Amino acid sequence: MATGRSYKLNAGISIPALGLGTWQSPDAEVYTAVLTALEVGYKHIDSAFCYGNEQPVGKAIADSPVAREDIFLTTKLWSTYHSRVAEALDLSLKNLGTDYVDLYLMHWPVPMNPAGNHPMFPTRADGSRDLVAEADWDFVKTWAEMQKLLGTGKVKAIGVCNFSIHNLEILLKAPTTTVVPAVNQCEMHPYLPQFKLFEYCAAKGIHMTAYSPLGSTSAPLQDEAVVQKVAEANGKSAAQVLISWGIQRGASVIPKSVTPSRIEANFQDFVVADADMAALDAISKTTTKRVVSPAWGVKIFHDE
Ligand SMILES: NC(=O)c1ccc[n+]([C@@H]2O[C@H](COP(=O)([O-])OP(=O)(O)OC[C@H]3O[C@@H](n4cnc5c(N)ncnc54)[C@H](OP(=O)(O)O)[C@@H]3O)[C@@H](O)[C@H]2O)c1
Repeated sequence: MATGRSYKLNAGISIPALGLGTWQSPDAEVYTAVLTALEVGYKHIDSAFCYGNEQPVGKAIADSPVAREDIFLTTKLWSTYHSRVAEALDLSLKNLGTDYVDLYLMHWPVPMNPAGNHPMFPTRADGSRDLVAEADWDFVKTWAEMQKLLGTGKVKAIGVCNFSIHNLEILLKAPTTTVVPAVNQCEMHPYLPQFKLFEYCAAKGIHMTAYSPLGSTSAPLQDEAVVQKVAEANGKSAAQVLISWGIQRGASVIPKSVTPSRIEANFQDFVVADADMAALDAISKTTTKRVVSPAWGVKIFHDE
């Protein structure tokens, strides 16, 4: 299809259903990847400060003939910047070479020491991640700072990533919370369909974006038997099936690739028949798997 399916966010803007992921995309390749994506019709690019490649992403956007205002650009607040939200956004905008992002996301609900032994991944003497004590700072305070960005013209919408129902409840019930996150970007694929979280977010007016839709590095979910079967029956690739399954559920989906032919093929989403959706939905009855699970040292994924 790639017909520009999109979803309306609670912030009033629309998010294109299919975007290009950029995690682990090397600088030299991500520039071409973003240019290729924009050339074949993508209007949604997912980036993050911590991916270290905002600059080539921004350069590709600037060099592309597609107008900035026609592109939905996301970036994310890194954990060592939770108490320096305005400063972090300015750094990302500078890297990206743009005046605003469409969506600014809290990357993880975990503040890390801003003055530790590393600017991005500070560790304690025992090697564990150097987190900020909850009494000193927490994601509720971070969100209060993010809310202030909405008045600056530098962001059109704000949201979160990797928030469980438990943490969303804390956030939404906090007296300082006046804005419901527009998006919760989470790992989501047939091995981790997130049915409960998806339903909860929908009830609260929070759109979900599915990350690692192919199972992350090397796209292992392509080899799943049911996915293969649906792909063969429909004359599609396994990646196209996985991407289309996510979109059809109502999520936006952000497959990463630095391979031009894959970037183009991934953009060809299609309408999955109800019976195929049911078969794909049933995969997690026998196999469940989370692939992105950093060792934060605190519980994050309460929904499992
Ligand atoms: N918010 C968060 O905490 C968070 C966490 C993880 C990811 N994300 C976002 O979500 C994006 C997607 O997730 P992801 O990067 O983890 O994984 P993914 O998109 O599920 O998979 C990427 C892998 O699939 C390969 N691939 C892509 N299309 C393919 C195709 N058609 N056929 C075969 N292989 C294919 C890519 O290889 P090549 O590149 O070599 O083609 C790469 O190895 C990220 O890039 C990032 O933007 C966000």
